[in-house]
Amino acid sequence: MQGRDKLCAKLTSAFLRKWWFVLASAVVLLLLGVICAIFFGTWVRMFIDHELVLRPGSMTFEWWARPPVRPFVRVYVYNVTNADEFLNNGSKPVLDELGPYVYSEEWEKVNITDNENGTLSFHYKRTYTFMPELSAGPDDDSVVVPNIPMLSATSQSKNAARFLRLAMASIMDILKIKPFVEVSVGQLLWGYEDPLLKLAKDVVPKEQKLPYEEFGLFYGKNGTSPDEVTMFSGASDITKYGIFERYNYRERLPHWTTDECNSISGSDGSIFPPHITRNDSLAVYDKDLCRLLPLRYLKDVESAAGVQGFRFTPPEDVFANDEHNKCFCPAGPPCAPNGLFNVSLCQYDSPIMLSFPHFYLADPRLRDAVEGVSPPDPEAHRLYIDVQPEMGTALRARARIQINLAVSQVVDIKQVANFPDIVFPILWFEEGIDELPEAVSSMLRLATALPPVARAALGWGLSALGLLLILLAVTCLIRSSHRQSTLRLEGHAVAKPPPAKTPSKEKGYELNNRR
Ligand SMILES: *[C@@H]1O[C@H](CO)[C@@H](O)[C@H](O)[C@H]1NC(C)=O
Ligand SMILES: *[C@@H]1O[C@H](CO)[C@@H](O)[C@H](O)[C@H]1NC(C)=O
Ligand SMILES: *[C@@H]1O[C@H](CO)[C@@H](O)[C@H](O)[C@H]1NC(C)=O
Ligand SMILES: *[C@@H]1O[C@H](CO)[C@@H](O)[C@H](O)[C@H]1NC(C)=O
Ligand SMILES: *[C@@H]1O[C@H](CO)[C@@H](O)[C@H](O)[C@H]1NC(C)=O
Ligand SMILES: *[C@@H]1O[C@H](CO)[C@@H](O)[C@H](O)[C@H]1NC(C)=O
Ligand SMILES: *[C@@H]1O[C@H](CO)[C@@H](O)[C@H](O)[C@H]1NC(C)=O
Repeated sequence: MQGRDKLCAKLTSAFLRKWWFVLASAVVLLLLGVICAIFFGTWVRMFIDHELVLRPGSMTFEWWARPPVRPFVRVYVYNVTNADEFLNNGSKPVLDELGPYVYSEEWEKVNITDNENGTLSFHYKRTYTFMPELSAGPDDDSVVVPNIPMLSATSQSKNAARFLRLAMASIMDILKIKPFVEVSVGQLLWGYEDPLLKLAKDVVPKEQKLPYEEFGLFYGKNGTSPDEVTMFSGASDITKYGIFERYNYRERLPHWTTDECNSISGSDGSIFPPHITRNDSLAVYDKDLCRLLPLRYLKDVESAAGVQGFRFTPPEDVFANDEHNKCFCPAGPPCAPNGLFNVSLCQYDSPIMLSFPHFYLADPRLRDAVEGVSPPDPEAHRLYIDVQPEMGTALRARARIQINLAVSQVVDIKQVANFPDIVFPILWFEEGIDELPEAVSSMLRLATALPPVARAALGWGLSALGLLLILLAVTCLIRSSHRQSTLRLEGHAVAKPPPAKTPSKEKGYELNNRR
């Protein structure tokens, strides 16, 4: 009792002479606390949105232009071990999966132009370096694979005039072109001189000309890409952050039958519009994939550095031969079987089909047509991207794709007369990032951990302080008014409630009286 009185005395006389000032501050604190609790999330969002925008000179811009990550690509090649029996005895191809052959990548964006309308234009620059110590063998390991330029030419000639096919057969005879080639892994990826492409370059009319005389599945990818890309920087609309606006001056693809399927409104997979929820659908556009790849939430994950994230993966029916993929089959039906995506129109009409590795999510008959491809395993063969939901940053990614060649049998060309209709797997690769550098991880950890703590601390702290002060002030007020009444009662035998307007003076008076 005595202590409380002292405190009241101090509060009312020493620092805060006017108790109503205490009460007012307390109410303000309480209100601030409630406002913080309600609006803190919005403020954090606004702050993140502001910081993420790719403005030349900002930290996010530097990270975007020269990502401080060590991406890699791991390649697994299907070596054909029974090429002769396959061609002569009609046995199934026996494949031996070799790899991984690992290349480290360095990503950079060059010739960046700020268009001043919320978009940036730039070119991708990717540099690949072979990593022998992480690989299963040197990249000059020699492998036997289908001769893709030749089989593309023969498959395409299927509907041409017969004399053309016969002419093709004699040219191939003269040039000694065989349906299988023995090349090194490095050549298969980065290019080798192909006699047919060389010939085509000289013979074919200019408009239909292939741009190269070398053939390689990653040909031309090492170095600066000639494609000019325009991407939303988030300055005008954060919900389009990192989304492509144009690819090579085009706003959409020219190949497919509907605008939706021709859309390129996806990101490159390294950043996404922020504030991702588990219900959101993300989209990635890749030029070689030739379409937008939708991604859906799979599960919650935590990166090795302790950053919480969501794993996103394509829906199981992404390459299904169904109604919603009909737009990707302009020449059909028949369309590509379940689990294959026909990218022929993006690959100079060569019959290239993409799938997931080991024909994951594809028609099981495709895997049965060959030997040596083990059953698909979602953990090893699924494509996924882990994102930090608040910032939309990719934490870890595995872009896994298998490249297949859909060969059509052409009996008029004797070299391939025995090559049956088959979807021939060539190789699969996974491109990805494992872990972000510690500086980025710790910032992301902070970005997830700090706001809830700060919000709780501010909200609860301010409210608690406000409540405490209110209690104190009210107690003091009640006590003093009570005492005042009793004092007056004793002194003047008049009970009068204290005037509401000027209580502090009387309180002071009363306290002085008591001493
Ligand atoms: C690939 O298969 C061929 C036989 O078809 C073999 O000669 C070659 O050594 C194999 N390559 C590797 C790297 O094992
Ligand atoms: C393929 O056929 C040839 C000749 O008919 C025969 O000598 C060879 O053993 C056969 N190989 C296989 C693997 O069946
Ligand atoms: C990049 O810009 C420089 C100078 O502006 C120019 O010479 C070069 O051709 C550009 N590179 C590409 C790939 O556009
Ligand atoms: C922004 O400007 C660039 C260059 O002028 C143009 O290519 C792009 O289409 C514009 N984008 C928007 C959204 O206006
Ligand atoms: C890619 O290009 C760089 C420099 O131009 C070169 O050092 C490197 O060996 C190339 N990588 C491959 C896999 O060819
Ligand atoms: C997310 O999806 C679930 C189930 O489909 C639904 O119940 C929920 O309302 C959705 N939430 C939002 C925010 O859309
Ligand atoms: C792949 O697409 C091309 C172009 O639309 C078409 O000509 C070809 O028949 C398709 N291949 C298959 C196996 O559907």
